[in-house]
This record gives sequence, structure tokens and C-alpha cells, in this order.
Amino acid sequence: MADVGCGLGASTIIMAEAFERSSFVGFDFHDVSIEAARKAAAEAGVNQRAKFEVASAKDFPGNGYDLVCLFDALHDMGDPVGAARRIRQALAPDGTLLLVEPNAGDALEQNLNPVGRTYYGLSTVICTPGSLAQEVALGLGAQAGERQLAVVLREAGFTHVRRAAETPFNIILEARP
Ligand SMILES: C[S@@+](CC[C@H](N)C(=O)[O-])C[C@H]1O[C@@H](n2cnc3c(N)ncnc32)[C@H](O)[C@@H]1O
Repeated sequence: MADVGCGLGASTIIMAEAFERSSFVGFDFHDVSIEAARKAAAEAGVNQRAKFEVASAKDFPGNGYDLVCLFDALHDMGDPVGAARRIRQALAPDGTLLLVEPNAGDALEQNLNPVGRTYYGLSTVICTPGSLAQEVALGLGAQAGERQLAVVLREAGFTHVRRAAETPFNIILEARP
């Protein structure tokens, strides 16, 4: 499986610890994060099955992945549609995209609560400028909401999109080709 926008590799390493017979690769375009992820995987003793490579979400290598995950990363990307399109192409025919994003309502007034206010603050200083600095510069923001996320996924060619689970802080969407 691939963990796209893996950052320091925390999620990749947790999955590699849990699923001993699977192979994992984490991709991020930030080289310093990838170096740290490799070190953390070695320290956790999972570096044989959890590899890390510097790559953008739109052109990461490999095909035939059973699972591709995006943990809190799609909304940070300048071209989330392009990233999702590449993921769709990289999945095995029966593969799945697991998308974890902040749990936001589709309308502004649904997010005027302590969690939503915190996410809007973080989004203003981190996520949105990060996206606007990249090509396409869509600027989804951390409070995109499920409806807008589904629009991005369907535009990228995914036909089945559903909310698989949620916590007070995150929604977990499943998307299939
Ligand atoms: C909020 S962090 C999440 C990191 C990690 N998934 C986690 O949950 O700890 C978002 C990550 O997306 C990465 N990112 C943003 N745009 C990207 C792009 N176009 N291609 C690859 N990685 C990207 C950033 O470098 C950052 O590591």
C-alpha cells in the first residue's frame, strides 16, 4: 500500500507494525520529512516493509496498489484532483483509496464550534497557504467538507465514494474506481 503525503511517516509505521505481511511505501514531496520517516521506521524495526521516497502526489511511482491512503494531506495539495487522478490510476482494479480529512460540515455555520474554529485557524496559517503555493492552487482548506471532497474524487474518476467512519475530529472516506 502507499501512504501519499506521509510527512514523518507516523501513519505508515503504525500500519507496518499492525500488518506484518504487507508492504508499505510512504511518499511526500518534502525531502527532510522523508529522511525523518526513514529514520523512524528503522528505529521502529519496520524498515524492511516500510520504505519512503520523495515524490509528489501527482507522479509517485508504482502501480497495482491494493490500498492508497491520504491522511490529512489532500486538502494541503495545490492540485487535489490531479493527485486523486494519479491515485486512481495507481490502484489495482479492486483497490481502495482511504481518505482521512478533518470532520467538517459542508456549510460554514456547521463549523462554528471549538473544533471547527481550531481547524479554520490552522487552515488559514498552514493548509491554505501551502496549497496556494503549489500548481493549480485550489486551496481546499482544512474545512472542505464531505460534499466538496466527493466532488474532487469524482472529478478524478472515482465512481464509488462513501463515508466509512468518523470521529469528532476526522471523517474517513472510502473511494473506489
Ligand atoms: C498535514 S501533513 C500530514 C502528514 C501525514 N500524513 C500525517 O498525518 O502525519 C500534509 C503533508 O502533505 C504533504 N504534501 C502537501 N502537498 C503535497 C504534494 N503535492 N505532494 C506530496 N506531498 C504533499 C506535506 O509535505 C505534508 O507532509
